Amino acid sequence: MCDSCKEKFYITTPIYYPSDKLHIGHTYCTVATDTMARYKRLRGCDVMFLTGTDEHGQKIEDKAKAAGVTPKQFVDNIVTGEKGVLDLWKLMNISYDRFIRTTDDYHVEAVQRIFKKMYEKGDIYKGTYKGMYCTPCESFWTESQLKDGKCPDCGRECQPAEEEAYFFRLSKYAAPVRKLLTETDFLEPRSRVNEMVNNFIDPGLEDLCVSRTSFTWGIPVDFDPGHVVYVWVDALFNYTTALGFLNDKYDDYGKYWPADVHFVGKEIVRFHSIVWPAMLMSMEMPLPKKVYGHGWLLLDGGKMSKSKGNVVDPYLLAERYGTDALRFFLLRSFPFGSDGNFSNELLISCINTDLANDLGNLVSRTVAMVQKYFGGKLPVEQEYDAALDDALVQAAGSLRARYETQMEHFAFQNALSEIFTVVSRANKYIDETAPWILAKDESKRPRLACVMYHLLETVRICAGLLRPFMPDTTEEIMKRIGAACSDWDSLGSFGGLARDAEVTAGPALFPRIDAEKELAALEALTEKPQVPQEDPLPEPLPPVSFDDFCKVEMTVVKVLTCEKVKKSEKLLKFTLDDGTGTPRQILSGIAKFYEPEALLGKTLVAVTNLPPRKMMGQESCGMLLSAERGDKLNLVMLDDTIPAGSRLV
Ligand code: ME8
Repeated sequence: MCDSCKEKFYITTPIYYPSDKLHIGHTYCTVATDTMARYKRLRGCDVMFLTGTDEHGQKIEDKAKAAGVTPKQFVDNIVTGEKGVLDLWKLMNISYDRFIRTTDDYHVEAVQRIFKKMYEKGDIYKGTYKGMYCTPCESFWTESQLKDGKCPDCGRECQPAEEEAYFFRLSKYAAPVRKLLTETDFLEPRSRVNEMVNNFIDPGLEDLCVSRTSFTWGIPVDFDPGHVVYVWVDALFNYTTALGFLNDKYDDYGKYWPADVHFVGKEIVRFHSIVWPAMLMSMEMPLPKKVYGHGWLLLDGGKMSKSKGNVVDPYLLAERYGTDALRFFLLRSFPFGSDGNFSNELLISCINTDLANDLGNLVSRTVAMVQKYFGGKLPVEQEYDAALDDALVQAAGSLRARYETQMEHFAFQNALSEIFTVVSRANKYIDETAPWILAKDESKRPRLACVMYHLLETVRICAGLLRPFMPDTTEEIMKRIGAACSDWDSLGSFGGLARDAEVTAGPALFPRIDAEKELAALEALTEKPQVPQEDPLPEPLPPVSFDDFCKVEMTVVKVLTCEKVKKSEKLLKFTLDDGTGTPRQILSGIAKFYEPEALLGKTLVAVTNLPPRKMMGQESCGMLLSAERGDKLNLVMLDDTIPAGSRLV
């Protein structure tokens, strides 16, 4: 087939936040995407498989600050550093065609153009954002969307946020997006459609805040300095900029867009099935054909996350059991659309049962028998026995069609079940035909050769269809059974092998694991949940009299200006409205913890009857109240309904 006649297939993973090293949960989606990409290549498609990293946002800025490096240095370390994202994809044998980093210049410039286009169209406008913000998820929420006062996605605390911001007219696209979700197969599994419609669209889609001013690590809005593009707008358009949309770096947009499928985790289905199509509609761009929201890999019933300390290290597992076994386990053990509970027991039992006992045994027994009975090469003369052979020939010959149906629906687990039903059938065929008995009778050699040939052909078809899941092992299997050809066409029936196929023996493909010993070893090696170490409580202070306490004047103040004090790493200089009409100046040693702009307009508490004192040559009239523990500091903040000058009692 020539390149231009090939059917194109464009598939993407989410682009990962390099805020922590990735864990096995992250590899789940990427392995699934890789398997799908390899399957489509096996089918002869012209595949574009995109993955990458989503490198902007407050979370990264905060983490970099805590680590004492620039945000770019921080992400570079996690993306390209040792055991970083690129290393992990190499380890997992991920055959991506393109890798995008959202800090790449071409992407940055393209996003600026996209933002401007939507602004000029009137779909992005300027307003004021007031609501809640979840920094770990980089998500804005209204009060009513919070769940028990916490982020509905991750269950963590949200912070109040109020700032001048640009908004995207998401509300304008509510009706066409609803239609897309309810009247087409755009979003799968279908169960996720109800969730989107009932929880987000029908209660009323609000316009989406698409710029931030309280931090700087993002793509600048080029026509309004001070604003950076909301990280999700920046991130979603990666799927098109990586093809060359509004940039000169690549030239494949016309060829590959729209995407055939975006694989995404269930918690980001909202962005992909509501926000993403709405923005594409605004840009008048074709919509992706499908978004598939897969489930989570859970550990002890909860989503793995570095901050909870319950992550499983893919390096550890791949080193012990091999990349292919790990890839296989991920897609064999859990249905892709639902959550699955990871456990070491399950992993070891999956390797022992499917790979060592069933597949590994079938291959090694077959190859060993061809060697033992025929010196490694089958004779051409073979005798068919319909009563015993038809069932296997039929099961293996029709496997490709059943497998294809499942793969086309991203039902990896079912596709593997189909293969392993045939593997078991072949193992049973060995028992039924009893080659060791045939081998005793010289006149049965043509019959024995036929049995061996059927086994080799079954192995060839199973290994050929397993190739997208376990690329290296299946190549080795093909070598051992002497199969020259294992393309898609050859996998639909027997006949791909020469009648006089020649085999080569090798070590066990999947050595059986001693489960008990191995579980104990893993237990000792696995990262234990880290209990956050609190700094010790401060020493108690001697009692003070109530009268003495009442002598401290604590006043509500509003921040009028705030700036860094020149030549000081520690000090911020505030002018404050303390209700008297005369601005009050206070210097505070908190520059390490706050950006000055982030404090403008905030309502704080100051001790206002301390004698003035000089710091770095400037007068400070009072002290701002804050709480401190270890390396953390929080200014005491009130909401803005209490006027300046009010007293704390
Ligand atoms: O969401 N099981 O990045 P991310 C299964 N940058 N999947 C898991 C998982 C688990 N335990 N943990 C994480 C982002 N994932 C955005 C994407 S796309 C334009 C921007 C999946 O690094 C998660 O569901 O937080 C998500 O699909 C992917 O890893 C990336 O997560």
